[in-house]
Amino acid sequence: MYKLLILLTFGALFLISCSSKKDLIPDPVPVVETKGLKEVSPFPFGASVSINLLKTRVPYENVIRKEYNSVTAENAMKIGGLHPSENTFYWTDADYLVTFAIGLGIRVHGHTLIWHSSLPSWVTNFQGDAVAWENMFKTHIQTIVTHFKGNVTSWDVVNEAFNDDGTLRSTIWSQHLGNDYVARAFQYAHEADPNALLFYNEYGHEYSSAKRTAVNNMAADFKTRGIPIDGLGLQMHTNQNQTDANLITAINTAAQTGLKIHISELDISLNQANNQSLVLTDAHLTLQAAKYKVIVKAFAALPTAQRYGITTWNVGDADSWLRSFYNRPDWPLPFDDNYNRKPAYQGILDGLK
Ligand code: G3I
Repeated sequence: MYKLLILLTFGALFLISCSSKKDLIPDPVPVVETKGLKEVSPFPFGASVSINLLKTRVPYENVIRKEYNSVTAENAMKIGGLHPSENTFYWTDADYLVTFAIGLGIRVHGHTLIWHSSLPSWVTNFQGDAVAWENMFKTHIQTIVTHFKGNVTSWDVVNEAFNDDGTLRSTIWSQHLGNDYVARAFQYAHEADPNALLFYNEYGHEYSSAKRTAVNNMAADFKTRGIPIDGLGLQMHTNQNQTDANLITAINTAAQTGLKIHISELDISLNQANNQSLVLTDAHLTLQAAKYKVIVKAFAALPTAQRYGITTWNVGDADSWLRSFYNRPDWPLPFDDNYNRKPAYQGILDGLK
């Protein structure tokens, strides 16, 4: 009887101690660890990256680490970024991104060797005859491709060479090098790194049939002439009002070339009308999610070998070029200003199903 009393007392004390411990220790919050896009997507998923944000904003870096297996420098590999004066190359920022990507074992897509825009003054002021221009053009391309050889998997060799009506854009390059400069840019890049995949990058496939026809004709011409081209970049800076049919046609028409397809700068504006007082609503977000789904679904339906990947143009809404370029409120990306996943992110997942 005495032993039983002792047992009951200890038992009661044990129960009391357990319950009081339970009161002190909160129930563990279930950790919902979802996968990143790179684990869900059967093709590479990426974003363009601002080196400054990557260096200074931890949540930004964390999203990139978690979500993506391909990165493109938003600006650091442009002519002004890498080649600020004729005899100076600046590698530091671009190398930072490459080192970051190597550490993660993810792909770097180079953007862009030749473009008519964002040119440093040494190019716009360049003086010389046709030979000097050709030499400058070739040296620019080959110095950069050689520097990143083995670490940058692919390049936008030429960006935006066509007008919306399908004619070749008159640029400083076409004026000094002749209309076949695009082909020679690909040849020079290939000489410098025969393993790099070479892309022609353009916008407007979703609204200009003349432009997409011109791009496809160029690709066919390159194939006939043996000019080394591996893929087409479709920038896809689009908006909520673009029709599903146009978005799908853009992707499928480009794929008719048989080349690899990179949706290379995807964003979906909610404020293409430049309304300064626009307020974001659930309806916007739902429509945007539906557009992301349409694009991803059409891309996912391409033959595996042609799916080079989808890259959004930066990560969170606050990082988007649209806000600074147009000085307007806009929310074009799959992550919000605080790097939370938006309905657009779910739209991407739905498109991958
Ligand atoms: O870095 C300077 C900073 O020092 C200076 O104080 C500031 C003042 O304006 O400018 C900063 O540079 C800006 C740079 O972005 C970095 O923020 C340039 O002015 C600005 O022109 C530049 O804009 C970039 C634009 O291309 C032009 O190169 C955008 O970030 C970039 O998103 C945009 O990307 C292009 C693709 O390359 C090609 N396809 C279209 C796409 C959107 O325009």
